[in-house]
Amino acid sequence: MSITEIGRATEQETAELVRLRRDFHRHPELGYQEVRTSGIVATRMRELGYEVRDGVAKTGVIASRGAGGRTLYVRADMDALPIVEENDVDYRSTQDGVMHACGHDAHTAIAMMVAERFAKADLAGRISFGFQPAEEGGQGADRMAEQGGLDGVDAALGLHVWSSLPVGKIGVTTGPAMASVDEFVIEVRGFGGHAAVPHLADDPIVKAAQLVTDLQTIVSRRVSPLDAAVVTVTRFDGGSAFNVIPDSVTLWGTIRTFNERVREDTHRLLQEITGERGTVSIRRVTRVLVNDARMCEIVREAAASVVGPENVIDSERTMGGEDFATVLATVPGCFFFVGSALPQGTFPHHHPRFDVDERALPLGLDVMTRAAHLYLERGFRDGAGAA
Ligand code: NI
Repeated sequence: MSITEIGRATEQETAELVRLRRDFHRHPELGYQEVRTSGIVATRMRELGYEVRDGVAKTGVIASRGAGGRTLYVRADMDALPIVEENDVDYRSTQDGVMHACGHDAHTAIAMMVAERFAKADLAGRISFGFQPAEEGGQGADRMAEQGGLDGVDAALGLHVWSSLPVGKIGVTTGPAMASVDEFVIEVRGFGGHAAVPHLADDPIVKAAQLVTDLQTIVSRRVSPLDAAVVTVTRFDGGSAFNVIPDSVTLWGTIRTFNERVREDTHRLLQEITGERGTVSIRRVTRVLVNDARMCEIVREAAASVVGPENVIDSERTMGGEDFATVLATVPGCFFFVGSALPQGTFPHHHPRFDVDERALPLGLDVMTRAAHLYLERGFRDGAGAA
């Protein structure tokens, strides 16, 4: 059977998607602890006849088949978040304090079903499914790549269910689509003492409060208004008693940009504005996620054939980050959004009441299958990336 003969998701496929997604939802696992999830994935991929490498980046699985032609990497993330679920549903998390609050349960289920379809198909090239651990700040994509996950890969596809898009809409953005993510910590030093004699101390609370205000000028006065950036202080720690001035205060926060140059500039400005007042350390979490125009064209064509061209949304960008950015910095590809908003009112990703409208699952399956098929059959229109 050729993939082109596979039409819209069947009732049976849809039921299986829901069953898999709910099973993963009931049994969420944090980054690098996806033992149950990856076990289910590896077993199923072996049953389907894939060449399987498990234990990649600890709990990742790579399942491949086919030879010759182009090699496409289809990625799904498997990890959950340290959140107590507040949804009252029968597939509620059974793990205390762990929840699939970003939809990675859906991504894993969809990729498994795409693999199921390709297991039955005559392949025009090679397809490699990367089920990765630890997307949520754990840089699982980087670890998979370091362990050869992208060796021989020509292009890549990934998707995310998206709570701010209605079901039936597919978001495809050419170029930068998701932000770089960095974490910063600033240790503001002072000299503590008795609160009654502040003139004898060097009060780090006043200095840190002023610094938080000064940091607002990075985006408002230093970064070009034509460039997007976020500098947010999210935590302010210091002091222990009403009558003691502490020695130091620690600030935590995040920097987001859509451009690696702006990212470097923002890091420099954070250092410059902090100056002598404190010590800055920055942890780079993910780079800017940049979609390849040619692969976006393929995804748009695939999506239009599933949901109609009027439902393919052009510019769904977010200051959220994604470690799939690493994959797209290595090979051309596209990361697209599958609308999954709940009709009765939706909660954002990472919220204790986040949930996925499961009607999004077969749409994700259909768009991903068709896009993968189009790429393997004919490559990019300009002939680049051809084997
Ligand atoms: Ni996510």
